[in-house]
Amino acid sequence: MNAQNGRWWREGAFYQVYVPSFQDGDADGFGDLRGVERRLDHIAALGVTAVWLSPIYASPLLDFGYDVSGHTEVGTVFGDLATFDRVVRGAHDRGLRVVLDYVPQHTSSEHPWFRDALSSRDGTHRDWYLWHDPKPDGSPPNNWASAFGGPAWTFHEPTGQYYYHAHLPEQPSLNWRNPAVREAMFEVMRFWLDRGVDGFRVDAVWRLIKDARLRDNPMMDDGGESFEIGGAGAHTTVRQIQKYTADQPELPGLLAQMHTVIDEYDDRMLMGELHLKLERVAALGTRGLDIAMNFSLIDAPWNGLDLAKLIQRYYAALPPGSHPNWVLSNHDRSRLASRIGTERVPGALALLLTLKGTPTLYYGDELGLPDAPVDAGRARDCAELRAPGLGLGRDPQRMPMPWEATPSHAGFTPDDVEPWLPIPAWAGQFSVESQELDSRSLLSRVRELLKLRRELAALRQGGITVLSADPDHLAYLRGDGENSLVVAVNLSDRDQTVAFPGSRSTLWSSHATVGEGDRLPGAVTLAPFEARLLR
Ligand code: GLC
Repeated sequence: MNAQNGRWWREGAFYQVYVPSFQDGDADGFGDLRGVERRLDHIAALGVTAVWLSPIYASPLLDFGYDVSGHTEVGTVFGDLATFDRVVRGAHDRGLRVVLDYVPQHTSSEHPWFRDALSSRDGTHRDWYLWHDPKPDGSPPNNWASAFGGPAWTFHEPTGQYYYHAHLPEQPSLNWRNPAVREAMFEVMRFWLDRGVDGFRVDAVWRLIKDARLRDNPMMDDGGESFEIGGAGAHTTVRQIQKYTADQPELPGLLAQMHTVIDEYDDRMLMGELHLKLERVAALGTRGLDIAMNFSLIDAPWNGLDLAKLIQRYYAALPPGSHPNWVLSNHDRSRLASRIGTERVPGALALLLTLKGTPTLYYGDELGLPDAPVDAGRARDCAELRAPGLGLGRDPQRMPMPWEATPSHAGFTPDDVEPWLPIPAWAGQFSVESQELDSRSLLSRVRELLKLRRELAALRQGGITVLSADPDHLAYLRGDGENSLVVAVNLSDRDQTVAFPGSRSTLWSSHATVGEGDRLPGAVTLAPFEARLLR
């Protein structure tokens, strides 16, 4: 193994592209690989080291690609394999790594495996999914609920059994206890790794394996405490504890086995989607997953004390060898600006990009995009369509990326094409075009921060110590000695004076273009919502 191996994901930063919403490259109103190819320069200019693409496989698109009907095919709306290869090559030429979304928990009900499973009880692929007989009264085998609401079991009349689906009925769950499933899904990984993919974000991995005895899940209302945090659980009103449908004892062993496929190749990685308690997430990052994705910031109350507690709790929970990482937004949760307020976004991004561990940026966060409201008639997300008006839908955080300031669809798609999700009139003011040339824009600030991360070992590799925190501010030290940095964030709408050891000068501020400033003897006064880096 080369000493440089793993540096791209340990010391770099990820950028999540939700492909349907990034850039339409073939004028059908829907984002695709040709669009991604066109925008690789934007991603490279940001200064991240890796791009993670949401699923681009063949799919009926009921969950916009998270319902895979052909694992080794590119969906026709997304492009073709030749375009995919160009994206990988184009990314690599720019020094970017490519991570694919890998969806092992379930397939689409249109997948040939499931079609065969439906054909008869002794179809070759029957046991590739989770089939069970009804209870004597005809009801489902147990109380397991779907992440999108309703029972997780659907009855198949012709063969007289129920099949399990953690999500939509059109997303039947695979039976990972079956060695044939494991081998077939490992072959899928090899197919893409052979094409040059650098790793996978493993979808819904905390749900990969279920209780073999099919025990009922407890309900939260019975006083149980949920161990499943956020995630798909945030898109349903079902208050069930996933005790027997998530994080089963077999999971770590299974992930370790999955990682042996990664180990067949040079310098690739796995990161897993885990909506579990922080301590459990930290523990799962030792074996099998190189990055156990930490979504805790998404649900954190946005005040200095809670943030400091969370940060300390996470680092304390990480066993040796478990790599820290932070996620502030994604395609499943309301956007940062809408959750914590536009004025707090620069400070939040400064936090994300200066905490110890690998950050994941969600497309559009570098522009400060808020959620875009979607009228009932234009809703696309299954979570919304299944439970309209309850605020469970994920369309608002999937607004098409605004690239240009003027055209009616902000450069996402041609003016005469209807985009798959509405693009509000205000989109242009957030656009890349309108921020790119402004050195004070959020986009410019994010680029500066990512540049500092690349340049400064204290940010890439240094330790972290919380210096002070109260509800209105948070300050921490990265690295030690001569090269250490202080990060101070004002979370309030008033000036805050923050003390630190030694005398320091400003390296970066969210508020003004500051170069090497005056020495500040032991304290700095931050403007409302300002974040600062001091050396
Ligand atoms: C993951 C994805 C989510 C999807 C679900 C089912 O939670 O992030 O978007 O709906 O899995 O695949």
